[in-house]
Amino acid sequence: MTSSPRPTILLLSGANLAILGEREPEIYGTTTLAEIVERSRVRASAHDLDVEHLQSNHDGDLVDAILHARGRVDAIIVNPGAFTHYAWSIHDALASFEGPVIEVHLSNPNAREPWRHTSVVSPVATGTIAGLGAAGYELAVDAIAELLDR
Ligand code: DQA
Repeated sequence: MTSSPRPTILLLSGANLAILGEREPEIYGTTTLAEIVERSRVRASAHDLDVEHLQSNHDGDLVDAILHARGRVDAIIVNPGAFTHYAWSIHDALASFEGPVIEVHLSNPNAREPWRHTSVVSPVATGTIAGLGAAGYELAVDAIAELLDR
């Protein structure tokens, strides 16, 4: 018997997130990106969802991944890193995606330097989770499961 493919979440990690765990742990915590991806997969699996992950320090790679997700992937979770604050190319790509988009930040950018208070991604996100550390990703998966269920 062939089983039908499970709905898929594309998890996107932007600039400097590959060194999570080592990078300013007092701000971003000690959980590595590999652990975050694994926890997201476990949580997604509990909802019968799959996760694809891409990390890149190049905004164009994230744009390509979002465009490739159109009509193929069911939802996106994105932590763009510093691209959050200026990458209109990522904004425009996400605007073309038809499914739910959850923006995640480990820290709370609004409680930090003024230049972090602007997100060019928030206007095209279904919702944003910020300031809850690595747990924010599992909550984002729960939110996607809820949104896809409706
Ligand atoms: C971040 C917040 C951004 O301001 C910062 O540039 C990052 C990480 C976060 O997850 O808290 O790289 O997106």
